[in-house]
Amino acid sequence: MDKFVVQGGTRLVGSVNISGAKNGSLALMPATLLAPGTYRLRNTPNLRDVWTMSRLMGSLGAFCELNDNELFMDTREITAFEAPYEHVKKMRASFYVLGPLVARYGTAKVSLPGGCAWGPRPVDLHLKGLEKLGAEIEVTSGYVMASAKELKGAKIHFDISSVGATGNVLMAAVLAKGNTLLTNAALEPEITALARMLVKMGAKIDGIGTTQLEIQGVDNLKPVDEDTIPDRIEAATFLIAAAMTQGKIQLKKTNPYHLTSVIAKLEESGCEIDVNSDEITLEMNQLPVPTDIVTAVYPGIPTDIQAQWTAYMLMANGTSMITDNIYKDRFKHVPELVRLGADIDVIDNAAVIKGGKRLNGAQVMSSDLRGSASLVLAAMVAEGTTDIFRIYHLDRGYEELEKKLNNLGANIKRVKTDIV
Ligand code: EPZ
Repeated sequence: MDKFVVQGGTRLVGSVNISGAKNGSLALMPATLLAPGTYRLRNTPNLRDVWTMSRLMGSLGAFCELNDNELFMDTREITAFEAPYEHVKKMRASFYVLGPLVARYGTAKVSLPGGCAWGPRPVDLHLKGLEKLGAEIEVTSGYVMASAKELKGAKIHFDISSVGATGNVLMAAVLAKGNTLLTNAALEPEITALARMLVKMGAKIDGIGTTQLEIQGVDNLKPVDEDTIPDRIEAATFLIAAAMTQGKIQLKKTNPYHLTSVIAKLEESGCEIDVNSDEITLEMNQLPVPTDIVTAVYPGIPTDIQAQWTAYMLMANGTSMITDNIYKDRFKHVPELVRLGADIDVIDNAAVIKGGKRLNGAQVMSSDLRGSASLVLAAMVAEGTTDIFRIYHLDRGYEELEKKLNNLGANIKRVKTDIV
């Protein structure tokens, strides 16, 4: 097991290249099941979740090899149609293989994802959508058994805007007979990027970039090469980290258009931000103004930066409120931040932060990917040394995080530990 040993009191200055989007890759990889062939997915981040998805795809018969952020995939020999519990329990996105397997091979057995660090994460919208397309769905002993001689186009409305359900159902609909209309579809950039890749593969999809997707099913698709979009959550994490340390940072290889709501909030909190093509520069010369956020579906404030914003507001002289309307109980990081000296109360799906308290280094434990990021950010501004345990959570979703932060002036050491 590894831990981070973080020396506080650092200031982030310099430039950093943003990696490809974890959640982008996790959608593009299962899409390669739809058309047997070879693919090159460029700008793929080298991180644990991509490895986990590669292992799952490998267990289905696909060949995956990542070299210098180019993921080569060969799906010409898919011989198995099961995503077992040991893969899915590690990573909920494994569930994305369900739609493509049913659409291309007419059968799939996929473990239910189960809960995660912050509570239940249902898949009812995924299953309802696939049933509407004509799949026979049975849920027994923790597995979803799905089969379909032929999928038929349908009108599908998502009661809740769901990234995963939109992705899964979209990947099934492109090979269904006839037309499908998806309403209240997710708008997240990772989903519009998936739709664009499917169109490159020969799918017929109208309305990309809107919540209404009209799909005309086709008989076959072809393999393609594709660039993965930049990771907007990594970018937001670095912007917040620089703001917390009153630093000056330049993000490169990013897409500012994916971060408009976050940039607006950072400016509201006192940051000076400049945008130029695929670069974002942030400078912060003061303590942040207390700034409330309410998470929402894209293009609103993403739930995936809620924990990092909580750490940021610890620096503000005053009270701020962070409300998560996507995941009502995504606050496992709060008790750990309190161990560093934070004054935070969680009331229902909101955290009330009384900022301006002095933070002191302590031993803290990661519980989920973005919560861990908030602990790293807080540790960088706390007095003294902080040990952060279970950083395998971080390794799931950030490529070389400590290396990138240390290049900007942080002082983070990755150390082996027997403490789990
Ligand atoms: C994706 O998860 C992301 N993961 C998550 O990022 C992100 O937090 C989430 O979208 C919200 O933006 C990947 O893309 C791999 P949802 P997903 O379905 O698809 C409810 C990270 O840190 N819901 O959009 O699982 C659900 O409970 C991860 O990178 C149902 O009720 O999220 C939630 O309240 C964490 N039924 C809301 O919808 C369903 O069938 C949004 O979830 C599906 C979802």
